[in-house]
Amino acid sequence: MTAERTPVLVDCDTGVDDAMALLYLLHHPAVEVVGITSVFGNNTAARCAHNSLRVLELMGRTDIPVAVGAENPLVGEVTYLATHVHGNDGLGDSGLPLEVSTPLSTLTAVELIDELSRQYAGRLRVLAVGPLTNIAHALDAIPDLTERVVDIVIMGGAADVAGNQSPAAEANIIHDPEAARAVLGAEWPSTLVPLDVTMTEIITEDHRARLSASKAPAAHFVAAVSDFYFGGYGFDSFGVRCSPCHDAVAAGVLTGDVVPTVFPRIGVEVDCTEGPGRGATICDTRGRYRGFPDQDDARCRVALVTDGSFPDRLVAMLTGAASL
Ligand code: RIB
Ligand code: CA
Repeated sequence: MTAERTPVLVDCDTGVDDAMALLYLLHHPAVEVVGITSVFGNNTAARCAHNSLRVLELMGRTDIPVAVGAENPLVGEVTYLATHVHGNDGLGDSGLPLEVSTPLSTLTAVELIDELSRQYAGRLRVLAVGPLTNIAHALDAIPDLTERVVDIVIMGGAADVAGNQSPAAEANIIHDPEAARAVLGAEWPSTLVPLDVTMTEIITEDHRARLSASKAPAAHFVAAVSDFYFGGYGFDSFGVRCSPCHDAVAAGVLTGDVVPTVFPRIGVEVDCTEGPGRGATICDTRGRYRGFPDQDDARCRVALVTDGSFPDRLVAMLTGAASL
């Protein structure tokens, strides 16, 4: 890995937008994906790991280790998998070859996190775009993890907007609220990229047409998976064929390509009760009316507003038109 690239570990439940995030990072000149850990969510952790391998094989990056992580949350059993959103195969049933020839890592997700955070201590950044179960297990198993890792960028939550899995909660958080509480409460800099911004960064049919017209395999793949995503999740959300690209936006925040215009460091609590609020991210946005002064005891920056331009950048990156 060249010295100037930032090493990034991606913890994901590869599904459609996780794949977009992986492809964005794999194309990005400033970062190096050094490992992928899978977690249940959009599908089983095993299937999500397999899907990450499918994406890596599309890009010829089978050098990147993929480890299987948690199949269940910290507390209780998995109650649902979002196959209705991401397709039975987890990648929009889009025709990407189902079979892979690349073996999974023999390490568990926590073991791979331990190995990479030791190897890249002081430089490793983490992008977490699924339920936070693996990260919570890693915090428990690796006492000095927060000293090894520079920061963690998380796609999840909803600050001042409704959830998507319930009126109160976003999917990644409600899958494992206890894990989210542990991760957001740990002693490391964290960034939360919630639905407040990811539901304003929308891939349209025009973006999909540009991707389809490209000769780049990654562009073609994203055009294909978006077709499925548009027809289901996107249409259900917006009433027209389009889609958010939640995890890819979080990748853009990590790389610095997405610069939130409202980005305060504020308290974030996770509702771990069994009531209708379970999985809600309660963000202290009371400073909204006085320019959001940073809250001294808060460690989490919450992206509240972005400018909606990321999908154009994603398309430019995947079609090879990006000039970074
Ligand atoms: O709520 C959106 C999040 O849930 C994304 O990470 C998507 O991939 C699913 O995991
Ligand atoms: Ca995800």
